[in-house]
Amino acid sequence: MVDIKWEELGFSYIKTPYRFIAHWQDGAWDEGVLSEDNVLHIHEGSPALHYGQQCFEGLKAYRRKDGNINLFRPEQNSQRMNRSARRLLMPAVPEELFLKGVTETVKANEEYVPPYGTGATLYLRPLLIGVGENIGVHPANEYLFVVFCMPVGAYFKGGLTPTNFIVSDYDRAAPKGTGAAKVGGNYAASLLPGAEAKERNFSDCIYLDPETHTKIEEVGSANFFGITANNEFVTPISPSILPSITKYSLLYLSKERLGMTVIEGDCPIAELDRFVEAGACGTAAAISPIGGIQNGDDLHVFYSETEVGPVTQRLYDELIGIQFGDVEAPEGWIR
Ligand code: COI
Repeated sequence: MVDIKWEELGFSYIKTPYRFIAHWQDGAWDEGVLSEDNVLHIHEGSPALHYGQQCFEGLKAYRRKDGNINLFRPEQNSQRMNRSARRLLMPAVPEELFLKGVTETVKANEEYVPPYGTGATLYLRPLLIGVGENIGVHPANEYLFVVFCMPVGAYFKGGLTPTNFIVSDYDRAAPKGTGAAKVGGNYAASLLPGAEAKERNFSDCIYLDPETHTKIEEVGSANFFGITANNEFVTPISPSILPSITKYSLLYLSKERLGMTVIEGDCPIAELDRFVEAGACGTAAAISPIGGIQNGDDLHVFYSETEVGPVTQRLYDELIGIQFGDVEAPEGWIR
């Protein structure tokens, strides 16, 4: 038995025994192996190190009441990783290899999948990096696909307790840049704004659209949603937003299970009054209610700074219920 206080977990690195590593060379992937070594040995010229030729994914494994383990829509992560790879001229990871890497990693580290009822999950981090000898601005001639994992709790400190966010002056991504790809550069660009937000006691930043700086795009490293008094689920759409699998799942669930109207459209920062509740969503964040948004001198509070709103709670119960196997899942969502 591993000695972990599951209920007290935050979102931090914990070494687990095994990770899956596959290698691409001469136009083909090998079968991949499980390794006990959590340090990668890569060439000093690796394009991942110099030119950011890398992308990653995030997904979770959930312990069910019956002891079995669920993965939530892993094929969607595979497809998104390959869209990111295409954007940075990296070879696709075949879906079969992606799923093998993920399932072998979960099985090999099974005792680290938190028990049902603790709220904790096993977070999986697949990554694809360009490695090998190089110095010019070229794509790599070798690649590594790695999947490692660790048990995690809530991403934002509050969990289902709302936290506040601040509108950033910085852009996270350019209009036709790499915002929609899950590449490290977007997250590197968010480190300074995020640190400045945290210094001021906010959970993270709200990023506005990089073209006009008038519309909400992202909440730190998660997507934004707002709920209106007319039973609408509203979430922004833009080529520089990272297409969150959780967000698309909520668009489906709010319409099909909660009977809401769904709108993918502009969320002007000047029109926050439109929303009676708001939240951040993503794999790591799950659903995290936004208490308020600080924009210049104004703090706009949605439902409450201390309590989760009723619609956000219902969405949370539905999504989390599906992920842990307590609520019937739409076809093909659970592996
Ligand atoms: C996720 O939600 O899985 C993410 O990748 C966000 C963050 C932890 C980088």
